[in-house]
Amino acid sequence: MINSIKDTIKLADGNEMPMEGFGTYKLDNQETMDQAVKTAFECGYRLFDTAQFYNNEELLGNSIKKLEINRKEIFITDKIPEPKQGYQSTLDAIDESLSRLQTDYIDLILVHWPIHSQFFATWRAFEKAKADGKVKSIGVSNYHQTHLDLLSTAADEMPVVNQIEDHPYLTQEPMVAANKQRNILTQAWSPMGRGATLQDPTIKSIAEKHGKSTAQTILRWHLQRGISIIPKSSNPERIKQNANIYDFNLSDDEMKQISSLNQEQRTGDDPELVYEIEHQYPTK
Ligand code: A2P
Repeated sequence: MINSIKDTIKLADGNEMPMEGFGTYKLDNQETMDQAVKTAFECGYRLFDTAQFYNNEELLGNSIKKLEINRKEIFITDKIPEPKQGYQSTLDAIDESLSRLQTDYIDLILVHWPIHSQFFATWRAFEKAKADGKVKSIGVSNYHQTHLDLLSTAADEMPVVNQIEDHPYLTQEPMVAANKQRNILTQAWSPMGRGATLQDPTIKSIAEKHGKSTAQTILRWHLQRGISIIPKSSNPERIKQNANIYDFNLSDDEMKQISSLNQEQRTGDDPELVYEIEHQYPTK
């Protein structure tokens, strides 16, 4: 079990990654990004998660530059969106991301969602980008077991991370087990269900016993399941709070109580449908 936000875990490819990171989705102006990234760095966050879809890579790159730190001190995750998938277009997209982030490598690049027509071509581009040193680790996001099975029929290297929607109302136990069996680390996006789980009375009462907030209790529950987390907040107090989860332990019984709240409630798209229609839902 890790004891500090700066602790890392060894991925299947040998690279080290912090278990907790800072999610930047929805941070869409420089001032907010600067303040959030500075606060997060000062609280010990070393992983910063972005995506081309978030339209904020350049903002993040600027904020990181302002910290005046060694590039090696931080870990950047980025994601390739559906319209950029394909062999050459993914390689070009990675170059564009590097330029916007103002760096010469990305620590972890993820396929944002699986899509059927470019499924293998995108992955071949990832393997090439890794061989070229432009990305250190390659992974996926929103992949079901069937997608991992399909990928394994042609991949030279399998993903080291699968970032999926995971929270107390969508615990995804079979998917988490399937990742583990393939030596793929599960990383939870929307670890609090976009806020939906924060008012849950069961979690609230467990949190009170530990003198912690519901958010902290949920994040701790993820870590004790061996799941990496990338909570997001634009509020400095909550950014700090979400980093302060290394001084308490949930009992086995409390872990079970939280896991039993599962109700298969997705806040995001169903990956199988995105695979078929090849883009996220138009309403998003
Ligand atoms: P805010 O930016 O106002 O803090 P998720 O990561 O599950 O998608 O949830 C993100 C939402 O939860 C954000 O809207 C964020 O809002 C809110 N949030 C993040 N951390 C906390 C916290 N510690 N307490 C309450 N709300 C939080």
